[in-house]
Amino acid sequence: MPKLGRICLFVLDPRTLLTLCICFIMYVIKEWNLKTKPSSHLDNVASTVRYDFQITKTWDDKPVDHLPVNISLVSHSDVGVKVLLKAPFFNDPVAPSGTPGEPFSHLWDYEVAEVFFLNEQNHYLEVELCPHGQHLVLLLRGYKELIKDMLPLEFKTIRVGNLWQGEAIIPGVYFPKEITKMNAYAIHGSGDERTYEALYPTTNGKYKEPDFHRLEYFKAIDFVTLLPSNVGERYKSSLWELS
Ligand SMILES: *[C@@H]1O[C@H](CO)[C@@H](O)[C@H](O)[C@H]1NC(C)=O
Repeated sequence: MPKLGRICLFVLDPRTLLTLCICFIMYVIKEWNLKTKPSSHLDNVASTVRYDFQITKTWDDKPVDHLPVNISLVSHSDVGVKVLLKAPFFNDPVAPSGTPGEPFSHLWDYEVAEVFFLNEQNHYLEVELCPHGQHLVLLLRGYKELIKDMLPLEFKTIRVGNLWQGEAIIPGVYFPKEITKMNAYAIHGSGDERTYEALYPTTNGKYKEPDFHRLEYFKAIDFVTLLPSNVGERYKSSLWELS
């Protein structure tokens, strides 16, 4: 018998075929089980929670004239909240003189994106992120009453053409207890061209000047799904032990 014929006979041998069929069926059943019933280990890993926001308005509720600044809040294993940023890079004003990755005082005078998190006691966390890598974290209460600032932050940025992207991880202990509301802002430009933008703006015509600390304009966020340890008995933060 020619060699090729013998190989074909071997492959088509009924016992070999049966074995192959059984193997295939077992493989399909295994894959199906993995897809429909995740193992107990996978069950224990909380699924990622993500909220996406787009800043499409100026501080006084006019449409912005460029791609919106996009800010996403993503759960981070219940130890913090990840902030993902995607924004146009204006490169105006020039970069702050501080080292990228370090806190920089008065960062609000530069190009920044900001996120605020507020609780019902009007305790709030402000996180300012600069496309050049500097950041500023402030703990405040009431109206602009500073509790702490210049806290360290894990923050990386990259620039892609005329856009920039940033990723920060805000530790859970930075948040005041039981966050219920938030707002986000972006600032760029110099002199007359200085532009202030807001996720939740003030009413057009109501105020003459922007002020990001008008807490009454903040809106609800389901924060507990993002950071379950922000509420109840599990909440702990020495930073927020106020006298
Ligand atoms: C923000 O998201 C919107 C919608 O996905 C997109 O059209 C826009 O280009 C994004 N902005 C930036 C700066 O990438």
